[in-house]
Amino acid sequence: MADGVLRYGGDYNPEQWPAEVWREDVALMRRARVNLVTVGVFAWSRLEPEPGRHTFDWLDQVLDLLHDNGIDVALATPTASPPPWFSLAHPDALPVTADGVRLHHGSRDTYCAAAPAYRAAARGIAAALAERYAHHPALALWHVHNEYGTTCHCAHTARAFRRWLADRHGDLDALNAAWATSFWSQHYTDWAQVDPPRATQYLANPGHLLDFRRFWSDTLLAAYTEQRDVLRAANPAIPVTTNYVLGDWVPVDHARWAAEVDLVAIDHYPDAVDGGAEEQTALAADLARGWARHGAGGDRTAPWLLMESAPNQIHAGGRMHAKEPGRMARHSLSHVARGSRGVMFFQWRAPAGGAERFHSALVPHAGPDSRVFREAVDLGATLQRLREVDAGTVDADVAIAWDAASGWALGHPGMPSPHPRHRDEVAAAHRALWRAGYGCDMVLPGDRIDTYTLLVLPALYLASDDTADWVGTYVHGGGHLLVTWLSGVADEHARVRLGGHPGALRDLLGVRVEEFHPLAAGQTVPLSGGGTGRLWTETVRLAGAQPTASYADGVLAGLPAVTRHRYGAGTAWYLSTRPDETTYQRLMTHAARAAGASPVCPDAPAGIEAVRRRGAGASWLFLLNHTDRPQRVPAAGIDLLTGATVDTQVHLPAGGVAVLRETGTAGVRPPPTAGAATGTLCRCCAPRPPRPCRNSCCAPGATTTPRP
Ligand code: GLA
Repeated sequence: MADGVLRYGGDYNPEQWPAEVWREDVALMRRARVNLVTVGVFAWSRLEPEPGRHTFDWLDQVLDLLHDNGIDVALATPTASPPPWFSLAHPDALPVTADGVRLHHGSRDTYCAAAPAYRAAARGIAAALAERYAHHPALALWHVHNEYGTTCHCAHTARAFRRWLADRHGDLDALNAAWATSFWSQHYTDWAQVDPPRATQYLANPGHLLDFRRFWSDTLLAAYTEQRDVLRAANPAIPVTTNYVLGDWVPVDHARWAAEVDLVAIDHYPDAVDGGAEEQTALAADLARGWARHGAGGDRTAPWLLMESAPNQIHAGGRMHAKEPGRMARHSLSHVARGSRGVMFFQWRAPAGGAERFHSALVPHAGPDSRVFREAVDLGATLQRLREVDAGTVDADVAIAWDAASGWALGHPGMPSPHPRHRDEVAAAHRALWRAGYGCDMVLPGDRIDTYTLLVLPALYLASDDTADWVGTYVHGGGHLLVTWLSGVADEHARVRLGGHPGALRDLLGVRVEEFHPLAAGQTVPLSGGGTGRLWTETVRLAGAQPTASYADGVLAGLPAVTRHRYGAGTAWYLSTRPDETTYQRLMTHAARAAGASPVCPDAPAGIEAVRRRGAGASWLFLLNHTDRPQRVPAAGIDLLTGATVDTQVHLPAGGVAVLRETGTAGVRPPPTAGAATGTLCRCCAPRPPRPCRNSCCAPGATTTPRP
């Protein structure tokens, strides 16, 4: 997709409407400056009403109409919803739940991704679409499937699982060792004995469950890549993607998928109201950027796109909360600030029928004479004014590690407490940094991290030896690290590392955890120096680290709760509990400052989200006022939304937004030679204000040695 254009639009379902509505649709799209729509996501039964008989005439007309009106198309393959005839003809391709129930047609996603008949039919419809539309002038992007995220436990799945396990482990001895099958008489002597983790009497084997999630992510990925290859072969110039759905239940390791898509695309629907929705939005966008960078081998400009979001609703507590005026735009611009190449919604027009008839839409049931559509028109104009920010990087001094497999492993019901969830701990760390105003990148174990001043590992439960080395090298070379409870406890097979927790990180943290003391929901423990811990506490023994806060009451009174340890040239913090939000923000700020990180906009009042993007020779400061009061923020530049010049202070109305093309020195990083004794800064220091190199590439104290 072309650079220099922020994409704007959403899922468009012309198959649900007569042709006269299509003409109104494109007129309204033009009014809102929509420039990309996703077509055909669930249109399989309208494209292939009988096996092999394709009815493309309506789609021809729609694509021509859109193109004639200057609107590009992300053409979907409709494989997330096979037609009724398919399910009738191939009952073996219907999915089976863990407790053996075969699901039936009647909703969507009723297929098993390991069933050969489904895979063949999916390739078939993708090939037919590619043959007809690969060179259509409206086509800007292929959108494969929709939100890969279903699972299945049928016989096809069992066969594929065994093949995958043989490939991963080599032989049954290795599998038995990895899964610790001597426990509860689970030792396998034949591959035929190994099944998907179906419903069983009591707790299932954690290694078995974890490998199944990995296998299923790979299975869904194979279903995606074979469609992608068909589409690419028809016209290699058209990028291909699929939209990621986020959630703990999703059996997809998005980071591993990122190298297989031409741009990462996410769907994001916050499920918290109030400030929680803004924090979730920022985290989702930072994750998407991290996945894109990871998939592109570390390229910080790798593209990603917000493919779906809700025009006017947050679902929380089992009901819909309408977004207040301006909130849709703020959420959208938070994504753009964090690198999204545009803003897309589910959905363009609200349908009269169907299961999601009450999901919000840019054109709601009330029609275009509505607040939501007027805001949609305004957002289109806003994105037009922001065209120049459609590239570049996002400033981040801090990195937070994310690991899908740790999330899956922590989901095992045999954990010491039901509360620990990787996603929650990542969100809590991100929230503490977000509230303190620090830019964050999300990284995967093994990613390049030498440009960050602080690395945070929130409940990174699984740590292979490579992951332990990755962290150790960073800290030893001068990096600052903050590790939270339940990180590094198990190896990559979910086997607990022995000798005291956290086995993989004990030495660098300078602590040895003897016992876990999980707390009850709602229970808190006071900490010395103020604040409380919740969810989890531990018996922490010092092995070189200094305590910086202790438990102030209860069985652990007087024992360390938070510690700091010098390791090589770096510093490693350990949090053995989840601090309350104020305390977490204070601790995180302290660690970030000590590491040399700077908030994006140090004097911004609380409730102002500040994000800085940089392109060639320019920087843009996004300021989003999430409060219900007017705010003043010290900054200077040209506000791209109003054209006004800001000399010293931006005045943001309640809920308002400004995007400044920065002038003066506010957003300009010092030239690379500033402060350098002999000229050239090493790679890890060059993009930052000069400071002593923290990494092993330079001699201690150096600021100038080029990386070898
Ligand atoms: C997802 C799906 C859409 C729609 C929305 C509604 O993002 O991709 O098809 O179901 O959720 O929330």
